[in-house]
Amino acid sequence: MQEIFDKANSVLEEIKSSAPVNAEEMEQFRIKFLGTKSVLKDLFGAMAQLPVERKKEYGQLMNTLKAAAETKFEELKAGFDTGKSSAKEIPDLTAPGYDIPLGTRHPLSIVKNKIIDIFSRIGFVVAEGPEIEDDWHNFTALNTPQDHPARDMQDTFFLTEDKNYMLRTHTSSVQIRKMESEKPPLRYIFPGRVYRNETISARAHCTFHQVEGLYIDDNVSFADLKQTMLYFAQEMFGRNTEIRFRPSFFPFTEPSAEMDISCFICNQKGCAVCKHSGWVEIGGCGMVDPAVLENCKLDPKKYSGFAFGMGIERITMLKYQINDLRLFFENDIRFLKQFTSAV
Ligand code: PHE
Repeated sequence: MQEIFDKANSVLEEIKSSAPVNAEEMEQFRIKFLGTKSVLKDLFGAMAQLPVERKKEYGQLMNTLKAAAETKFEELKAGFDTGKSSAKEIPDLTAPGYDIPLGTRHPLSIVKNKIIDIFSRIGFVVAEGPEIEDDWHNFTALNTPQDHPARDMQDTFFLTEDKNYMLRTHTSSVQIRKMESEKPPLRYIFPGRVYRNETISARAHCTFHQVEGLYIDDNVSFADLKQTMLYFAQEMFGRNTEIRFRPSFFPFTEPSAEMDISCFICNQKGCAVCKHSGWVEIGGCGMVDPAVLENCKLDPKKYSGFAFGMGIERITMLKYQINDLRLFFENDIRFLKQFTSAV
């Protein structure tokens, strides 16, 4: 009979002396002394074995035990909650850290940054212009007056009834802004988003990105343009890349050309990307038309220059062999996380 009392007293001691130091040990304490299968339950059960005259005394002891366990648990819990626990939990400094999933750059940003890097090595500086443009900067100053047929080539999103404001259809508008506001030498590249009212498909979108280049100085020649484009193509697509110029037309350049690069995918043996021609088109270029220089109050007898414009999506699609333009704008993580280059 005495053993039953002894047992209860030793459990009371155990409650008083136990000192859980973390959540796990707290839970063990709770299960042991307060849970549905706690040792106290067994001790209460033992009451039945006691003679009537000692039941009261035992009952009081058990109440003390229960209260002790509850108070201890509440105190410890309050200490943990406020961070004021006296418990000395030693963190495991050897535990590995949590995984922090790193994002990746968008493929268009990777390619844009690479283009900027390549041109900045030969002295081109990045500048930007507004995406909402007026007629002067997007068309008229670029030698494309109101009734010019070339306006139909670019399906414009006009913003006002009078068609004076629009979403820019190309980054060439930034050329005008720079030529108006600064004196040559000008050596710029203008990366940015442009808009055209086109039906969205694997090959066309209503918004895409261009990088425009502009170099204005004394005595800039077509040879400078070709050399600059060759340098770019070889840096971007590999040292063996060749370039080809085909005569073309833009209102703001004269002469104008479309630039092709030798197909780096099949090495000109013929493949689906180059449509078995061995060449792929990457952009337009030409010598800045004297009329454009005049529109910007630059003397065409003193200055000359070249300009070029390339589609960033197009270059990215070639470089990574992506066959659907829409992927760039859908933000599908499975697509995006394949591009890990930090360039
Ligand atoms: N702006 C032209 C386009 O969007 C590209 C271009 C830029 C052509 C500069 C010549 C010179 O198609």
